[in-house]
Amino acid sequence: MRLPEQVTIVEVGPRDGLQNEPGTVPTDVKVELIDRLARCGLPVVEATSFVHPKWVPQLADAAEVLAGITPLAGVRYPVLVPNDKGLDRALEAGVEEVAVFGAASEAFSEANLNRTIAESLEMFAPVVTRALEHGLRVRGYVSCVCGCPYQGPVPVDDVVRVTASLFELGVHEVSVGDTIGVGTPGQVASLVGILAGHVPIDRVAVHMHDTYGQGLANTLAAFDEGVHVADASAGGLGGCPFAPGAKGNLATEDLVYACEGSGIRTGVDLDALVDTTAWMHRQLGRAPASRVAEAVLAKRS
Ligand code: HMG
Ligand code: MG
Repeated sequence: MRLPEQVTIVEVGPRDGLQNEPGTVPTDVKVELIDRLARCGLPVVEATSFVHPKWVPQLADAAEVLAGITPLAGVRYPVLVPNDKGLDRALEAGVEEVAVFGAASEAFSEANLNRTIAESLEMFAPVVTRALEHGLRVRGYVSCVCGCPYQGPVPVDDVVRVTASLFELGVHEVSVGDTIGVGTPGQVASLVGILAGHVPIDRVAVHMHDTYGQGLANTLAAFDEGVHVADASAGGLGGCPFAPGAKGNLATEDLVYACEGSGIRTGVDLDALVDTTAWMHRQLGRAPASRVAEAVLAKRS
């Protein structure tokens, strides 16, 4: 495999993970989770979302969470914003990085944003422009790149079109997401290979959910095709409230173990990360969905 020497892991557990918990995690627990993840050496910890609290009540305390964390120098704490109202709230909270989130499937776009894909891009355009004027860094997401819970197969052309549209709006990076975790390594390699012909692939990240246990293989397949940024969530936290049945992201521990064992630097302290995951899952009252966390904890005891 042609693997990179170093990758950037974007920890999305506090956002993608906690947005999908059946109950709302207390604000102080979210704050401690974010601070602990940053101290593990994760360079980017996606902290929360400024979306409509009726749509995602689990993250209604976004401003309080950001006010509570102790930012570490050199660590980025992006937040999701769908629209101008979300950006207003994020600016008020003093954020330095935001992410807009579109989809390659019309049906998912309607379910997630109450907008067609074209309407969502129209909604994002002023958000990206204004965020850039404020000196923020702006990320874009494209959901359902390997399949959609409503529509089924998603044409690669649609993934390319939405990814390119987000770059045209001015985002610095686009994270392409297998929101429901149905993709396979061959499919991801082919998709990333095609994307590379249309957009700057060194500014494409992958965001793999692990529903079918393919998250790690899919992420490595993307690395082999020139990607060097990957999203993951501690202990495999999460899913998506608008993608029924989708499991959490690839577990960060599994990605760190695979990378470090293959000579790919991540900068993450695996032991500290397992401690954090074990602590968080004690708060949630269940075991982490990470084979590596499970194995490290078993070895310790
Ligand atoms: P809408 O109902 O169409 O909103 O929702 P609207 O623009 O018609 O406004 C209706 C009301 O909502 C207004 O209030 C607005 O002020 C208010 P009213 O005048 O009626 O009193 N409002 C807001 N309030 C607080 N914060 C806001 C906001 N915006 C409007 N930001 C909207 C449209 C986009 C807001 C809604 O659909 C929404 O919040 N969607 C977010 C859904 C979400 O968070 N999904 C999960 C994240 S995406 C994901 O998980 C995928 C990802 O992980 C990648 C992957 O896995 O592929 C990123
Ligand atoms: Mg996701």
